[in-house]
Amino acid sequence: MQRKAVVFFMLMGLSSLVLSTHVDVESSGFGRYSSGNYHDQMTKMQAFRSSLTRRGLASSTPSPSPSPTSEMPLSRGSVYNVTSYGADPSGKLDSTEALVKAIADAVNGPNQGVLLQGITNLGGATIHLEGGNYLITKPLRLPVAGVGNLKIIGGTLRASDNFPSDGYLIDLSPPSTSTSYNYEYITLKDLMLDCNYRGGGISVVNSLRTSIDNCYIAHFNTDGILVQRGHETYIRNSFIGQHITAGGDPDERKFSGTGINLIGNDNAVTDVVIFSAAVGIMVSGQANTLSGVHCYNKATGFGGTGIYLKLPSLTQTRIINCYMDYTGIVAEDPVQLTISNSFFLGDAYILFKSINGVAKGVIIVDNIFSGSNNGIDIVQLDQANGPFNQIDQVTVDRNSAKGMNVRSTVAKGSLQGNGTSWKLDFSHVLLFPNLINHVQYTLSTSGSSFPNHALRNVSNNQVLIESNVAVSASVFVTVDQGITG
Ligand SMILES: *[C@@H]1O[C@H](CO)[C@@H](O)[C@H](O)[C@H]1NC(C)=O
Ligand SMILES: *[C@@H]1O[C@H](CO)[C@@H](O)[C@H](O)[C@H]1NC(C)=O
Ligand SMILES: *[C@@H]1O[C@H](CO)[C@@H](O)[C@H](O)[C@H]1NC(C)=O
Repeated sequence: MQRKAVVFFMLMGLSSLVLSTHVDVESSGFGRYSSGNYHDQMTKMQAFRSSLTRRGLASSTPSPSPSPTSEMPLSRGSVYNVTSYGADPSGKLDSTEALVKAIADAVNGPNQGVLLQGITNLGGATIHLEGGNYLITKPLRLPVAGVGNLKIIGGTLRASDNFPSDGYLIDLSPPSTSTSYNYEYITLKDLMLDCNYRGGGISVVNSLRTSIDNCYIAHFNTDGILVQRGHETYIRNSFIGQHITAGGDPDERKFSGTGINLIGNDNAVTDVVIFSAAVGIMVSGQANTLSGVHCYNKATGFGGTGIYLKLPSLTQTRIINCYMDYTGIVAEDPVQLTISNSFFLGDAYILFKSINGVAKGVIIVDNIFSGSNNGIDIVQLDQANGPFNQIDQVTVDRNSAKGMNVRSTVAKGSLQGNGTSWKLDFSHVLLFPNLINHVQYTLSTSGSSFPNHALRNVSNNQVLIESNVAVSASVFVTVDQGITG
C-alpha cells in the first residue's frame, strides 16, 4: 500500500456534521460537581428574596428609617475631600490618620435607606483624593461592615516602608467577622496604588457589586487585587504590574506575585492589562469571566503563567477576546471552560493539567496562535499526575496556528492509494492520545469494480480502512475525540 498524499483540513466547518451526532452528557458527573455551587446560589436567592420582602414592608408600613422607596428627597452624594482632613497631597507626610477620618465621616454620613438587607446606602458618598499622592502606613479599611454605595476616587496611595507586608492599601475586609455580605456597591475609581513592594493593592472580602475601574496598581509583592468570596467584583479598564515595565525587562525572571487573585464567584475582569507578575490572573472561584485581558506579566519560558484556572472539576470560566503575550493559560481538570477569539503570541499555549484526569465541556475555538517554529503545540496536556481518562464534550477546533503545531479534537484527512488498505495517521494532530470516538469516511473509486470496504481499526489515533479487492481509491476521513456516546 503506497501512501501518496495526506492532506489535513482542520479549519473547515464540516465538523458540525460530526458534532450533530448523539451527545450523551454524563449527568451523574455534572450533577455531582455542581453541588458545590448550589449553596451559594441558594444564599443569593434568599438574599434577593429578603431584600424584596424588606422593600415591601418599607413601602406599606411607615418606618422611622428612610428607605429607597419612601418619598424622602434623595440628597446629593456628599464629597469628602481628604485634604480637608489634613491629608498631605505631596506624599511626604503620613496621611493615614487623615484618610481614616475622611472614610469614617463618609461611612457615618447621611444615609438613604438600605441596599441589600443589612447594608446601609451611603447615597454615593465620595472620598475624593483630589489628585494628590498620599503616603499611608497601614491598610485603609472601612470602620464598620454593612455599608454600600460609597466611592474612593481620584488620586494616588503609596505604602510606606513600614507598611505591613501582608496588608492591602485598600482592604475591604470587615472589622469583625460577619456572616452576611460585608459591603455592596463600593467603587474604587481613578486610583494609582503604589504598594512599595509591601503587600498588595486592593482586597475585597465577601462583598457584592464592587467596581474597580481605571486603576493602576504597581509594586505589589502579594496580589494586585484579591477577591475572596462574595460576588460580582467588576475589575475593568485597569493596569496591573509588579514592576513598571513595557516588556522585555531584564529582571523578568524575578517577577513574583499575582496580578488578580479571584477566590470567589461571578466576577468579571474586562479590558485589563497585567504587565508584570508571576501569575497574571489566578482563578479559583466559579463562573468568572475574563475578556479583553492582555497578559504579558511573565513569559512562560521564565516560569510565568498568564491565567491559571485552579478549579479542578468545576471550572465554569469564560475567557474571550484576550491577548496572551508570551504567557499562556493553565487549566487544572477543566470542566466547563470556554476559551475563544483570543490571540496567543510568542509560542504561548494552553495547558490542561490533569489532577484526576477529567476534561469535560471544554470549548477552545477560533483563537489565533503565533510562534517561532519551535515545534510548540497550541494545546498541551500535563499528565504527570495521571492520564486524562474522563473526557467528554471537549472541542478544540478552528484555531489557526502560525509557527506552532495545531492540536485539535477534530481532524480531517484524505489518502489516495491502490490496494486493499488505507491507513491515515492523525496522531500528530489529535490532542488526546489513542482516543477516537467518531469516524466518518468515504471511499471514492472510479474503477469498474464496486468493492466492499470497512473501517477496521482506530488504535493510536490511526484510522485503518480495508477493502475486499484491490482498487485504486481515495478515502476521506473525519475523526472526533470530543464527544462520548
Ligand atoms: C472639595 O473640593 C472641590 C474642588 O477641589 C470643591 O469644589 C468642593 O467644594 C470641596 N468639597 C468640600 C466638601 O470641601
Ligand atoms: C494498481 O495496482 C495494480 C496491480 O498492482 C496495477 O495493475 C494497476 O495498474 C494499478 N493501478 C494504478 C492506478 O496505479
Ligand atoms: C489495531 O491496530 C493495533 C496496532 O495499531 C493492533 O495492536 C491491534 O491489535 C489492532 N486491533 C484489531 C482489532 O485489529
